[in-house]
Amino acid sequence: MAMDSSGGPPREAWGSKAAFVLAAAGSAIGLGNIWGFPTTAANNGGAAFLVIYLCAVLFIGAPVMLAELILGRKSQRNPVGAFKAIMPDSSWWLVGGLGVLTGLMILSFYSVIAGWTLAYILKTATGVFEAGADTTAIFLGVAANPWQALMWHGLFMLITIGVVVKGVKDGIERWTKVLMPLLFALLVLLALRAVTLSGGGSGLSFYLQPDFSVVTPGVVLAAVGQAFFSLSLGMGAMITYGSYVSRDQNLETSAGWVTGFDTMIAFLAGLIIFPTLFHAGLDPNQSGPGMVFVVLTSLLSTIPPAPYGGIIFGTGFFLLLAIAALTSSVSLLEVVTSWGVDEKGWTRKQAAWMIGAAAFVVGVPSALANGAVSWLSSGWPQGPDFLSFMFAVWGQYSLVVGALLISLFVAWVWGVQAAGDEVRADGTRFRFEAVWRFLIRYVCPLALLGVLWTLVQALF
Ligand code: PHE
Repeated sequence: MAMDSSGGPPREAWGSKAAFVLAAAGSAIGLGNIWGFPTTAANNGGAAFLVIYLCAVLFIGAPVMLAELILGRKSQRNPVGAFKAIMPDSSWWLVGGLGVLTGLMILSFYSVIAGWTLAYILKTATGVFEAGADTTAIFLGVAANPWQALMWHGLFMLITIGVVVKGVKDGIERWTKVLMPLLFALLVLLALRAVTLSGGGSGLSFYLQPDFSVVTPGVVLAAVGQAFFSLSLGMGAMITYGSYVSRDQNLETSAGWVTGFDTMIAFLAGLIIFPTLFHAGLDPNQSGPGMVFVVLTSLLSTIPPAPYGGIIFGTGFFLLLAIAALTSSVSLLEVVTSWGVDEKGWTRKQAAWMIGAAAFVVGVPSALANGAVSWLSSGWPQGPDFLSFMFAVWGQYSLVVGALLISLFVAWVWGVQAAGDEVRADGTRFRFEAVWRFLIRYVCPLALLGVLWTLVQALF
């Protein structure tokens, strides 16, 4: 039934395999690794969460990653178009539609947090984080001030739009190549500093010595959701990026590299945050969206020679974090933009501007949810702040639903044979085909159904 895509419009493509892997890794590596992962791990028991997270990445994330790349390259379309091309006259395109909507929603709050990183570039550069500085008060000075929060949110959205308007090769590809390796190097240095802090040892055991008695269904759900968010799965980002991959490239190893890079960076971020958190005597269970900003900056004044070590390190770190966030936000906007271009016939420029503006507006309550407006910040009448709420609904649950439907589609509707043929289209062997078939047909759907089932039960 599969329709060949050769009749479609000419499509932009990545310059090389390395460029594609880096761009996809750029989408995956972002705030989810350095902000989301440590925050979620802290709130969900630490090491036990880490173990479940790693299993989720390996057994559910990696196979779904490959499935999405296959759908994208086969169809050469955006998520909605991909399902329409492969299975015309069916309702499966709704899965892509959910993905596009999810992309818009995630972008709306993602840009708020990324906006804080922009503000922090300035703050670190001007030496605000000297020894004894009240890092919580400094954080609230940005996040709880409505004008600051909205301004940085808007600025970050503008930059994202600017990159997406430029397109795949000149916009996305050029930057990721240099900056991702640099971010990695800085993270390693920060981790070395963190693990040698006094009191850091108890942070390390919180992070690395699992206590499985703390595991509840909620912890499993958080780990699986976090894995999808971090790997940019479940909403079609990898379908979209896969659609720009040419047929002579190997999808299997690409999926492996992207998954591996992303997981390594998240793990490193934990190595930085947990020792620092315990060194500073903070309670990991009490940490909200601001945790990473508050905790990391308290490390800066300990980097010799004071104050320059901290200034150079801190500025470099937030600059790279902002860039990592940008390569992710670009992929979010790109998903929705490619839908607007392919399905609605808008120009790339129109689509990027309209959708970016919409995401800005939708993000306003999230921007005001960290102290600026009290009922958004503490939940109404009680509960999580609005940003955490958006993260849970769109950044976790919706991705789990999306991934479940994508794996069902590839495994049982379109079929693993056709999918395998697409992997082999570059003329090489599909080495882990048997393993992948087993995971995508049985393990992924059952595990994801289980996760959703616990979620539904928790609601009642
Ligand atoms: N993976 C990105 C991050 O970790 C966020 C993201 C999620 C990007 C979903 C695209 C799609 O920051």
